[in-house]
Amino acid sequence: MSSQPKLSLLFTKDEIQATVKKLAAEIRRDYLGKQPILIGVLKGSFMFLADLIRFLDFPLEVEFIRLSSYGRGRESAGKIKVVQGLQSKVKGRHVLVVEDIVDTGLTSAFVLDYLGKKKPASLKVCALTDKPSRRQTPVNIDYHGLTVPDKFIVGYGLDWDERFRNLPDIYVVENEG
Ligand code: IMP
Repeated sequence: MSSQPKLSLLFTKDEIQATVKKLAAEIRRDYLGKQPILIGVLKGSFMFLADLIRFLDFPLEVEFIRLSSYGRGRESAGKIKVVQGLQSKVKGRHVLVVEDIVDTGLTSAFVLDYLGKKKPASLKVCALTDKPSRRQTPVNIDYHGLTVPDKFIVGYGLDWDERFRNLPDIYVVENEG
């Protein structure tokens, strides 16, 4: 039986939706008429990306990339690999990377380097949450949602050992069982 960590509410679904709406307005302003490719970094961004594009009422494309990330527990494995790559060509396209969270920044730095080599017309980052206290490498977040404390968070796509992705609100894991 898996342990039951204590969760405390950090952002309600209403706060999250207001943030998603604000980010969508900024993205719409910059990408209208550019037919961008929004690339969700799996798995954590799936819920955010699904909500975000509902507010983007203009032609765009959706892609996913899956990288090796955290193993079990909270520390990053440190080594990043592409587990599932892209189906479409990004050369000459306007590309927006959609992230659930920027923590150490290593994943974002990796994905920006990986996509940058494919020569997109532009390459930017949208992150729903940002944990700046843990940054190991600088990342320029072009569309910035919510700043989170140096705590492990779950819900709205974010997991703790594959659990809690389905929660509609975002919680802090107070004790890791
Ligand atoms: P980074 O490479 O350290 O910036 O983190 C990248 C990935 O680690 C994110 O896309 C998440 O999947 C995961 N991650 C980092 N912090 C958290 C957290 O607080 N909760 C859940 N997942 C996290």
